[in-house]
Amino acid sequence: MSWEIVHNRRVIFGEGKIAEIPGILQWHRKKKVFFAVYDAKAPVCAQICGMLKDAGIDYFIYDKVVTEPDLDMINGGRDLFLANGCDCSLAVGGGSVIDVTKTVGMLALNGGMVQEYQMEGRQPTELPPLFIAVPTTSGTGAEATKTSVVYNNFNGLKKSLYHTSMIAEVTILDPALTVGVPAKITSATGMDALSHAIESYVSLNATPVTEMYGLKAIEIIKDALPRVMEHPDDIEARGQMMLASYFGGVAITAGIGIDHIMAQPLGGEYHVPHGDACSIFLPAAMELNLDYSTKKYADIAKALGVYDAGKSDRDNGLAAIEAVRKLQKTIGAPSCLRPYIKGELPSREKVLDVVKRTTGHITCNPKPLTEDLIWTIFNMVL
Ligand SMILES: NC(=O)c1ccc[n+]([C@@H]2O[C@H](COP(=O)([O-])OP(=O)(O)OC[C@H]3O[C@@H](n4cnc5c(N)ncnc54)[C@H](O)[C@@H]3O)[C@@H](O)[C@H]2O)c1
Ligand SMILES: [Fe+2]
Repeated sequence: MSWEIVHNRRVIFGEGKIAEIPGILQWHRKKKVFFAVYDAKAPVCAQICGMLKDAGIDYFIYDKVVTEPDLDMINGGRDLFLANGCDCSLAVGGGSVIDVTKTVGMLALNGGMVQEYQMEGRQPTELPPLFIAVPTTSGTGAEATKTSVVYNNFNGLKKSLYHTSMIAEVTILDPALTVGVPAKITSATGMDALSHAIESYVSLNATPVTEMYGLKAIEIIKDALPRVMEHPDDIEARGQMMLASYFGGVAITAGIGIDHIMAQPLGGEYHVPHGDACSIFLPAAMELNLDYSTKKYADIAKALGVYDAGKSDRDNGLAAIEAVRKLQKTIGAPSCLRPYIKGELPSREKVLDVVKRTTGHITCNPKPLTEDLIWTIFNMVL
């Protein structure tokens, strides 16, 4: 076996740590930052702009990212990066803002349109400018990955592009930024983080490093997610979720399984927020993989606090699935796809086509990915 992992160079955790941003930019002698934020009117935006001004660093605010980004938000962002003479980038937002910013910097130095990298296999050849990622959801873990997930306006497909050079140089995990996240987004993004942790742990490409991060993320989420749902102002629990989300992001570099293989393209097709889509497919994915990774599901049961030494690995795996369903219900995360599909259900051919053109090439799910598996799981979540 051989493997490689790419990490951020610097990870800073703690309440109020966004105050480190100007110092980092000064250290790198940066003059003008492309500052992407989920809402230019959010207090965090004014707070960071004030700090940048005090440090004598110029900025351009980019607030055109809405949820689940498309090609235009990235290609347009790249034009503005260049037109405004930016020399580095800062993302303060959820996975959508982080993915856009990650890609804007790459395009600014490498040229071309994002769709060439997404659909035609073009590879970056130049190191992108300094990129600082500051997540405001917990989450996608996009601050820990080299991946960007993009909705393609031309063919309607949601597909990833990735390159080692696209990972954020610095990430700041500041729990204060997630305190105001609405309940629906907290639950959905929390299920995304849990999906990363579970899927990566059973991935056929899991490594000792990703396994360690994945299990730890599961352990944290089982307590912290219900806590933040009940007490949204609990900064300690918000911090725990932020860590778990980051750990999930590191872990998912081991590759996605049948949950994300379905959630990503069908989320794009039916406009389901990513975390909700992951929540919908997670228990079914675990059921289908249980007999192909039984020992690992027993480990997951341990991490979820439902392990019983007197039971078989398989029964412990079943208890893990039950615990995930219970958590999903407790926090009000969705479990069915049907409400998102307007009108008639798609044909088998349609579902297979959407998956095959996006995530269908992925081979690290424990149960081999076949057309029947794709169609089976689709029907399980209706
Ligand atoms: N790059 C990766 O490795 C990776 C991994 C998983 C998912 N993703 C992608 O990330 C995107 C989803 O990101 P997300 O789930 O973080 O949601 P998001 O970034 O789309 O944000 C969801 C909503 O929450 C709002 N929001 C964000 N932070 C807030 C805050 N602190 N307070 C109040 N509102 C806030 C946003 O404005 C938006 O309306 C999807 O496109 C998904 O495919 C990327
Ligand atoms: Fe995800």
